[in-house]
Amino acid sequence: MSLNQPIANFSNLNVWIVGASSGIGEACAKWFANAGANLVLSARRESALDQLAISIRTEHPNSQVRTIAFDVNHQDQASGAVNELFQEWSRLDILLFVSGIYTPVRAHDFDLQVTEQMIQTNLMGPMRIVSYLMPYFLKQQSGHIALVGSVAGYSGLPKSLVYGPTKAALLNFAESLFYDVKPEGINVHIVSPGFVATPATAGNDFEMPALISAEQAAIEIGKGLQKGEFDIHFPKKFSYFLKFLRLLPYPLYFWILKTFVKI
Ligand SMILES: NC(=O)c1ccc[n+]([C@@H]2O[C@H](COP(=O)([O-])OP(=O)(O)OC[C@H]3O[C@@H](n4cnc5c(N)ncnc54)[C@H](OP(=O)(O)O)[C@@H]3O)[C@@H](O)[C@H]2O)c1
Repeated sequence: MSLNQPIANFSNLNVWIVGASSGIGEACAKWFANAGANLVLSARRESALDQLAISIRTEHPNSQVRTIAFDVNHQDQASGAVNELFQEWSRLDILLFVSGIYTPVRAHDFDLQVTEQMIQTNLMGPMRIVSYLMPYFLKQQSGHIALVGSVAGYSGLPKSLVYGPTKAALLNFAESLFYDVKPEGINVHIVSPGFVATPATAGNDFEMPALISAEQAAIEIGKGLQKGEFDIHFPKKFSYFLKFLRLLPYPLYFWILKTFVKI
């Protein structure tokens, strides 16, 4: 049963992708462009966004694509980006918030500056954008808010002392948000990818189970939105396994981690 309104056709929908300059966000931008959506692409790196916009326009000469570069951690830049967006468009159909950073942290190297940066980008970033967009969404009584979390938010994992909690909090935020805004006609999706080959994971020095490409991730996200899923998670064999793990009693859970997770 879909909790959200399915999206049969993306043609001419107004889609804002925050975190479009590389990896999953970039692949999603191409997916939405192929599906005929109008795009605003955001992230900090203006030149990467411009290059992406040029390549989309070359492939889809009729596409409507523009860029707004900003830092999700900068309050004035973020509210400025939202104002600019609504000067361009009278309505927003889909916010896809992808921006996020991953730095491995363990108890032995618990750096508070790194911690604050990750909490800001991965949690305050999406909260800030959703809070600035909320008056517009409430006024239009429609729209989709899709937030990219991670399967790392399901339960505590090694090297995830800070990243995991940011994504767990984002999942909880999406659940509470869904409850509040569904009666207003607004749809909420939490996207939980497993390992995806992107610049963020390129430095991982361990074998990533069930690794998929950014293009595959974009297809999964598109399919999840099409079906109106609240919980868009993939690849299924990995995400269901982690969903199962979190149901186990803690002694068994920690034993499985210790025995099988070699990172
Ligand atoms: N790759 C995986 O295995 C995996 C698994 C689960 C979840 N995820 C999540 O998927 C999302 C995308 O990750 P990715 O793997 O595609 O990594 P990526 O290629 O490094 O992309 C991260 C994106 O976030 C943007 N970003 C970072 N800090 C920002 C800031 N302060 N303001 C605005 N934009 C910012 C980056 O753009 P700029 O640097 O240009 O600002 C970039 O577009 C993240 O939320 C990540 O946690 C990834």
